[in-house]
Amino acid sequence: QQGPAFDSNAMTLTRFVLQEQRKFKSATGDLSQLLNSIQTAIKATSSAVRKAGIAKLHGFAGDVNVQGEEVKKLDVLSNELFINMLKSSYTTCLMVSEENENVIEVEVEKQGKYIVCFDPLDGSSNIDCLVSIGSIFAIYRKKSDGPPTVEDALQPGNQLVAAGYALYGSATAIVLGLGSGVNGFTYDPAIGEFVLTDPNMRVPEKGKIYSINEGYAADWEDGVFSYIAAKKDPAKGKPYGARYVGSMVADVHRTIKYGGIFIYPATKSAPSGKLRLLYECVPMAYLMIQAGGLASDGKISILDIVPKKIHERSPIFLGSKSDVEEALSYLK
Ligand code: AHM
Ligand code: MG
Repeated sequence: QQGPAFDSNAMTLTRFVLQEQRKFKSATGDLSQLLNSIQTAIKATSSAVRKAGIAKLHGFAGDVNVQGEEVKKLDVLSNELFINMLKSSYTTCLMVSEENENVIEVEVEKQGKYIVCFDPLDGSSNIDCLVSIGSIFAIYRKKSDGPPTVEDALQPGNQLVAAGYALYGSATAIVLGLGSGVNGFTYDPAIGEFVLTDPNMRVPEKGKIYSINEGYAADWEDGVFSYIAAKKDPAKGKPYGARYVGSMVADVHRTIKYGGIFIYPATKSAPSGKLRLLYECVPMAYLMIQAGGLASDGKISILDIVPKKIHERSPIFLGSKSDVEEALSYLK
């Protein structure tokens, strides 16, 4: 008896990246190599997130596991994975990680031309309760001559070469943008590969969901308050559903797939909001815009903000074009 159909010609992420690279005659293969190293970091993080080798993962940083070895917390582990894999890819000269206060410079003999900003494990409040979390990355080319400096990492999002995220949800998925559209890949544990499952992702023009932490409503500016009130008011149209995971990757992934709006606004006590520009807002804005949506800080496109500091924050309104436009109209 024959088993279920087996795809003997699957479009894996590695194959997809190679195919894209071939479209550029001058391409050296460095970006493909870089993306491969990120893919390895993501596979290992995913395995750890799914608690494979549970005894080694149990406990908090500084704890000792049953084997008497020191245990690393998941976010520490994923940060080390990203740093080590990127360094050893010979494609990167400088890294910015949410977990490191300063930029990370790669040893001179291993330096390549790319700069990578990443949040190795975003959604920290969801790690211990097993709710979806993710990794986010943004890739730039170094523009200046000479040794890399922090200024090389302070490029606006409109200079991005590529960006993507991994979602450790009910399945592990990678969503990747290489400058012409957005493609989604789902991990197939049977072959250990990410397989193209969502080619050319497009966010619906308008959605039915709003996503914002409503607990802070008293702290919002009036425009945000009136917009959310309107989304709940039957007199202003069919009310929207509310969804808020509290992991940016999960909330953004749902927004790309189903449409609607995700907001992390400025508040009276946090005038720049919470989310970080370089490795949270910018890569997600890049993907959303390439998928046909919009991403704004309330005034300008997230991709046009010129960062001044590597860990700077920005408010964000991101999602379906018509929903974001409507939200922005309330801010004026
Ligand atoms: P983290 O970097 O500490 O994980 O915080 C980022 C997360 C995002 O994933 C999410 O969108 C946001 O914080 C949720 O914040 P809040 O709990 O204030 O709603
Ligand atoms: Mg984060």
